[in-house]
Formats: sequence, structure tokens, C-alpha cells
Amino acid sequence: MTASPARLPIGIFDSGVGGLSVLDAIADRLPAENLLYLGDTARLPYGTKSPETVARYAVQAAGHLVERGVKMLVIACNTASAHAMPALRAAFPAIPVIGVIEPGAAAAVAAAPRGLIGVLATESTVGSGAYLKAIKDLRPDAEVRQQACTVFVAMAEEGWTEGEAVEAAARRYIEPILNHGRPRPEVLVLGCTHFPLLAQAIAAVAGPGVALVDSASTAAEAVEAALAAGDLAAPVGRGTVHFMATDSASRFGRVATIFLGRPVAPSDVEIVDL
Ligand code: DGL
Repeated sequence: MTASPARLPIGIFDSGVGGLSVLDAIADRLPAENLLYLGDTARLPYGTKSPETVARYAVQAAGHLVERGVKMLVIACNTASAHAMPALRAAFPAIPVIGVIEPGAAAAVAAAPRGLIGVLATESTVGSGAYLKAIKDLRPDAEVRQQACTVFVAMAEEGWTEGEAVEAAARRYIEPILNHGRPRPEVLVLGCTHFPLLAQAIAAVAGPGVALVDSASTAAEAVEAALAAGDLAAPVGRGTVHFMATDSASRFGRVATIFLGRPVAPSDVEIVDL
């Protein structure tokens, strides 16, 4: 007898550990769901790689989750969401595939009454124009300024979430998009899984009156809606979380502990080979 699809886990994929912010938001909103998380830590960062490479890696990693049996794929990586959605939907047509760009864009538009929006993301996400398009689809008259913040990823991985170096990097990246003789953005989208960890330093540079949004909670809402639409929601109960990575359980555990704010031991992490 085959298990009902509703009882299968949700597969969540990121280039590394940052997508755990999305996992956390899904676990909070949908506590009955079993979650299978895969971080492609052997190949992180995706954010400096070409669109073709990002799409190839994303399809391989998602394929591993699909082989394990998942009822839905959540692409909790902005760079992979920016470049790989068409390839992922073509490769796995039988299950819903949810990315984080549209939810992040929706959160930004909702928080920007005048449509003045700044996007902070990886080089590859900025180059894709995916946020720009998703925001303009929702609000054609939005004024969007984008900034690649490459060094933020390494800082977050290192656990550098505050202090002089982080503030200096935040100033260097963010000051150029604040003014230009034009009105300041009302909202900055943290369009990379790692940036919410640096939110305090980013907010300090952006100043009062500039809201920060990320896609974690709006992505969880999109997951809930897709589960309901497909009649895929798990029966009432307490879901489980299983972590997988493609390299170094100890590094995954250490960085995951920073991201989740609770201990993740190396023994909690299964290493897989794609
Ligand atoms: N997960 C990536 C993203 O959200 C950040 C880390 C990376 O560059 O791989 O864009």
C-alpha cells in the first residue's frame, strides 16, 4: 500500500544553511509537517556562480529530495529561485515547487506604500533581475534599486553578525542605494538567505523609516496555500525535521546553530552525495 501523499515530507533545499530561516518559518506555521532539509554545502556559494551552474546544481539537489519521496519542493535559496525555477518545474512536474522570490517581492510591495524598494541580494540574484521583475509584476510603478552584497554571505557563515567589520560592509553596500538625490527606499528586501542574520547592522545603516523584509514568513504562507490547493496538508500531529548536507556535518551543525539560535549537533546531520 503506498502512503498518502499528504503524509510525505516537504523537501526544502538551499545552497547551504541559510534556508533554515525558511524551514523555521514553515515549522512555526505548519507544525504537523515533516520537513526534509538539504543544504548543498559542498558547493556553496551559489551566489557568485553562473545561471547555468546554479540551475544544474539546484536540479541535482532537488532530485535527491524527490528520490527520497517529498510531496512538495521549497527552494529556500534566492539565487536558485532566481535562476532555476523553470528547470525545476520541468524536471519535477508532479509536485508543487515553491521559490522565495515571489513571496519576498510580495512582502516588499506590501510594506512600501509609495513603491520605493531596495533589494539586497547575491551578485547572481541581482544579475538575474528576478526581484525587479517580481516586484514590477505586482506594482509596475515601483522604483527598485538593487545592490549585490557578496561579503555578507561569508560574514554570516562566520557568525559575524555585528561589530565594526559588519557595519563597515553594510555602510559600503547600502549607503549608495539610500539617496542618489532621490527619495530613500521605504523598504529593503533581504533577498538572500544569509542577510536576516545581519539585520541589526543593516537596519542601523538604513536608519529609521526604512523597513526590512525577508521572504521566510511569506514563503511559509505560500507553502500553506499550495498544500491546501493540492489537498496535501499533513494530518494533525507533531512533524519531524531531518537535516542533510553535502559536506561537513560539524560545519553545518556550527553554522545551523547560529542561524536557528538553538543547538544542532553534527550527529543531527546526514551527509549525502549528489
Ligand atoms: N542561499 C543563497 C541565496 O539565498 C546565499 C548563499 C549562496 O551564495 O549560496 O541567495
